[in-house]
Amino acid sequence: MCGIIGYVGKKRALPILLTGLSAMEYRGYDSAGVCVQASGLVRIRAAGKIEKLRERLPPAPLAGTAGIAHTRWATHGVPDEANAHPHMDCHEQVAIVHNGIIENYSELREGLKAKGHTFTSQTDSEVLAHLIESECEEASGLAAIRRALKRVRGTYGIVVIFKDIPQTLFAARMGSPLVIGVGAHEHYVASDPSAILAHTRDVIFLDDGELAAVSSEGVTLAGLDEQPVNKQVERVTWEVETAQKNGNPHFMLKEILEQSAVVENSTRGRIDLIGTRAVLGGLRDVSERLEEIDRIIIIGCGSAYYAGLVGEYLLEELTGIPVEVELGSEFRYRKPIISARTAVLAISQSGETADTLEAVREAKRKHALTLGLVNVVGSTVARETDAGVYNHAGPEIGVASTKAFLSQLSVLALMGVYLGALRGVLPEREAGAVLAALYEIPDQIQMILEGRARISQIVKRHAAMGNCLFLGRKYQAPIAYEGALKLKEVSYVHAEGYSCGEMKHGPIALIDTSFPSVVLCPLDSVFEKTRSNMEEIRARGGKIIAITTDHDAVSSLCEEVIIVPKTLECLQPLLTVIPTQILAYEMAVARGFDPDRPRNLAKSVTVE
Ligand code: AGP
Repeated sequence: MCGIIGYVGKKRALPILLTGLSAMEYRGYDSAGVCVQASGLVRIRAAGKIEKLRERLPPAPLAGTAGIAHTRWATHGVPDEANAHPHMDCHEQVAIVHNGIIENYSELREGLKAKGHTFTSQTDSEVLAHLIESECEEASGLAAIRRALKRVRGTYGIVVIFKDIPQTLFAARMGSPLVIGVGAHEHYVASDPSAILAHTRDVIFLDDGELAAVSSEGVTLAGLDEQPVNKQVERVTWEVETAQKNGNPHFMLKEILEQSAVVENSTRGRIDLIGTRAVLGGLRDVSERLEEIDRIIIIGCGSAYYAGLVGEYLLEELTGIPVEVELGSEFRYRKPIISARTAVLAISQSGETADTLEAVREAKRKHALTLGLVNVVGSTVARETDAGVYNHAGPEIGVASTKAFLSQLSVLALMGVYLGALRGVLPEREAGAVLAALYEIPDQIQMILEGRARISQIVKRHAAMGNCLFLGRKYQAPIAYEGALKLKEVSYVHAEGYSCGEMKHGPIALIDTSFPSVVLCPLDSVFEKTRSNMEEIRARGGKIIAITTDHDAVSSLCEEVIIVPKTLECLQPLLTVIPTQILAYEMAVARGFDPDRPRNLAKSVTVE
């Protein structure tokens, strides 16, 4: 989720571009760059935060009054200057900034190389600059961009500037937001309104499949399908900070609500329903070693550890390989028995968690195959593991992990299908069923999110709770642990996650009318046993909030019932976790706390 801004008008573009980038730094800032139309296209880029870019600026201010700029959240290619946007073609005729993922960039890149194009970055985005320039042999401006984009599969929000088309920006949207700011004899293009609200509140929101030519005097809209496009100018009433949260009061809520798109992005280009296979390019170089491993150890901390517990069930079921899950902080102090046929999979959103990182180093010292499931491209865990898969969840700003956790589960399911097929133990029919069900998850997530208000009402009825037990069994046990962690860390209600089967071994002593339980009880292979636990709770006066797939199956035992759609048992955690996230968020707000800044916590625990 990168930050994009373009300006065309009467003022010097550079100061406006830099201010706009600063307003979007929350979207990701591993590198940044600008390109201004001066004598030719003048481009300046830098790795690191925007301050590093400011340090690179020439002493004499750039006079150009049209330009584009970008702050990067890496998806392909490490965060260095060469991979920073704007990207240009080899003849420096075209400069582009891009937000999104080009799925077919490899094949496009090979085709362009065959025509003599030389590339200077590892990114998918650079391909767009070369592609557009190659189309300028047959067309110009918007027509050349349209011809290029018709060859692209994936998502994009792009702004393009040509050396030879003065005072004009070109924009196109497919799957990544773009907004045009309307000023007096000046216009802006940005990935979200927060970058331009200082200049104008009058905007035109582009929709998927729409293109625009933007000059200081006007905006020309067109369809990728060459159909006419008419749009109204709208007025944005948000303040900047609210705009950064898509109009939501907190980043945590914004990130919960964008999880449908996050799972789409995490699985984009990785579900091949025709070939019935999971496509994980990041594991290709170690596929031979993966065929030989006889054990998997998953390492993580906090929510990443709980994602690993779901992964344990998933990977054992789909691959037949023994899996164990270890806390990073424990694993690194044991004398773990590891061989070259052990794969150690580190799960980490930040890729910088000290305990997880030290566990990876211990595994490497013992010659294990080390893999990463990481969200931040180019982070230390990603760089120090032998191979891995990025989960493409976009920057997660909220301290409580929500969308990153869900995207980790999505990628673990893909890993299960990939490994099961690689080792010849997963029947094609079963692989196809998992991939087809995973493909449906984004729509099912959206159905749950549309019922958010009802969950908020449930929280209001139980806001006085001082304690809470989260219970689940098999695939739902890790969601009980994760749900308890979420509630604890943002609302400070004491919550414990337990496997249902453990109730009789102690926790049931806690149950009375003042001690509610949240029970994860979808109709799965262990539902009847979970229902028995609910009856035991009920018999002791305990109140139950059920998260289930069948209202009538549990309603007689519960105060509250939250319904989620039914999917395969191995994917059901991707759906049952969402109400637990909403419960935690709503409880924090009901108690007057800021869920984005929970006390005593940091987003990334880089110390031991
Ligand atoms: C989760 O809500 C917490 N913020 C915390 O447990 C987090 O999951 C843990 O610190 C691991 O972080 P990582 O994924 O960046 O390694």
